[in-house]
Amino acid sequence: MNDSVNPSADSSTNALPESGGSRHRAIRSFALRQGRFSVAQRKALDSLWPVYGLDAADAPSDFEAVFGRSAPLVAEIGFGNGETLAQLAADQPQIDFVGIEVHRPGVAQLLLRLKERELNNVRIFCADAVDILTHRIADESLSGVNLFFPDPWPKKRHHKRRLVNPEFIGLIARKLKIGGFFHAATDWEDYARQMLEVLEGCDRLENAAGKNRFSPRPAHRALTKFERRGQQLGHGVWDLIFIRRDDRQPAIACNGR
Ligand SMILES: C[S@@+](CC[C@H](N)C(=O)[O-])C[C@H]1O[C@@H](n2cnc3c(N)ncnc32)[C@H](O)[C@@H]1O
Repeated sequence: MNDSVNPSADSSTNALPESGGSRHRAIRSFALRQGRFSVAQRKALDSLWPVYGLDAADAPSDFEAVFGRSAPLVAEIGFGNGETLAQLAADQPQIDFVGIEVHRPGVAQLLLRLKERELNNVRIFCADAVDILTHRIADESLSGVNLFFPDPWPKKRHHKRRLVNPEFIGLIARKLKIGGFFHAATDWEDYARQMLEVLEGCDRLENAAGKNRFSPRPAHRALTKFERRGQQLGHGVWDLIFIRRDDRQPAIACNGR
């Protein structure tokens, strides 16, 4: 039996906002895949998006009001189907997590995981992370940002679509609290080296592993579908962890910001 549903033909998925975001940027880091929803995912969108979903309206979100408590807030950008995010949230109930993903079936899958594991410390935006970081997350409000296996855009002519570039890292640095972390992982060596160069070039961030070094893989990062696929292809994996410096005095600029 085919239990999947084409999202464009399924009015019940209207619970989700359009993933493309309301603002127009010339170059985006994703090519929106339509994907298909299983029946369970479609039901999850109907019943669980109102519980865990956040809309992408303009004012910065008041996360203390959203979660009903004051706790460190960690964002995960491009969480895929939410394997790592659900695991981190289960392992760290003292932390609140905000996931940002454009792929709607992935969002539905995370909703199912949250319900199954009875997790209440996660909320989700279904929109472009650049728009959400810019407009919905206050400066110096995040204790951490995770970016695991971002789309590698391996062809040279597509490198401009890679999420990690000086402007994006400048945005991340602005959103992190002093002492907050940015953790990225990739199984594409040339992207890993590009990330390292960009991150080392940001004066607001300091490499936790020491200058120009990659970090050892932390045990808390759950293995995902993309990492498993990379392993099967014989790819290595590179982790990068950078910490937001205390740059209040004297003021230091990052990418001119
Ligand atoms: C290669 S997948 C990795 C997924 C997951 N992190 C993992 O390790 O399994 C990259 C994900 O990032 C999402 N993505 C890419 N650019 C994005 C953006 N600007 N905002 C939100 N999600 C984005 C894609 O939809 C995709 O699901």
